[in-house]
Amino acid sequence: MIQYTFVPAADSLRWQKYAGRDVIPLWVADMDFPAPPAVIEALQQRIAGGLFGYGQPLPSLVETVITHCANEYRWSVEPDWLVWLPGLVPGLHLACRSVGQAGDGVFTATPVYPPFLSAPVESQRRLLTLPLVRDESGWGWDFAAAHAVMKAARLFLLCHPHNPVGRAWRKDELWQLAALAEKYDLVVCSDEIHCDLTLNGAHQPFATLSPEIAARTITLMAPSKTFNIAGLGCAFAIIPDTRLRENFRSAMHGIVPHVNVLGLAACEAAYRHGDVWRKSLLDSLRGNAARVEQEIGKLPGLSMERIEATFLAWIDCRALGIEHPAAFFEKAGIGLADGRDFGPGNAYTQYVRLNFGTQRTLLDEALARITRACASL
Ligand SMILES: Cc1ncc(COP(=O)(O)O)c(C=O)c1O
Repeated sequence: MIQYTFVPAADSLRWQKYAGRDVIPLWVADMDFPAPPAVIEALQQRIAGGLFGYGQPLPSLVETVITHCANEYRWSVEPDWLVWLPGLVPGLHLACRSVGQAGDGVFTATPVYPPFLSAPVESQRRLLTLPLVRDESGWGWDFAAAHAVMKAARLFLLCHPHNPVGRAWRKDELWQLAALAEKYDLVVCSDEIHCDLTLNGAHQPFATLSPEIAARTITLMAPSKTFNIAGLGCAFAIIPDTRLRENFRSAMHGIVPHVNVLGLAACEAAYRHGDVWRKSLLDSLRGNAARVEQEIGKLPGLSMERIEATFLAWIDCRALGIEHPAAFFEKAGIGLADGRDFGPGNAYTQYVRLNFGTQRTLLDEALARITRACASL
């Protein structure tokens, strides 16, 4: 378990939203755990030099990322496949803008992290969605229905592992998606920001299925979620295909800034020295996930599936019989992400997403408040 003293940062977006109110903020996806000591030390050293001009990734950082991909996912990445980015959301937008033409279809499965829905539209593309299905084995794909939607698309935005349903897609599921991408000749942009947060078992990048699949895939990764350094803005795309990579790079010109030097320093330290910390983080998250599953499972109006990855729980509140659960829980002192933002129309208004990347006492208090709120109905 991670040992730490908890004091929220004064400028935290998540905590500021409810400043001065008795609402526990479990909405936006960053955690309450301080970054690994090695990351803090690397930042302190970088700052001590006093020079903060434009930066670029050092060869040692590129080497670190390549070693990480080789060790963690058995993926042999070439240095020139890497494109550095200040965040993954810009990467989603760049994928939309650099593949196909205005008016082309972009496919994604819902519920999903909201920028998957807005990036296509803001890039003058047509958003094509398909709901994930939930059965006795949990959340999964409706492969039969996917044909008709994917056929009309040029780009597929895949979330792997999936925010918000917490699935780490299995190899057989990835293969079925890959077969569809090949059949309908889609480029796949695989957002793998949560890939180092699989709670049980290893992560398989979509691009590692085969060289042919790698050639149609833009993979987006970052140390930001795993090591709780999202505010430092450092991410990267891995794009093996030269043409896809050149188009992606040219969409960046003039609008995507250099990655800041502190982000680069933190990224190298995190991947190079952060693994012991990450393992202990995963212990804490497994404990928190089990607690959330257990407590939510006891409440008649709420339900959820086992969490395989991420520090996010997707909670189905339909049986509560209230119009807008996020607003209801906020009034009861728990600030959750509103399901309404995760799909088209009102498809997920009756769902909420809970961020359990926090200290156990705060999580327990939030769960107690949820229990009391449900009992009051
Ligand atoms: C799936 C997914 N992609 C991207 C992001 C955000 O990435 P960034 O902060 O690097 O833009 C998040 C944040 O929660 C996420 O869950």
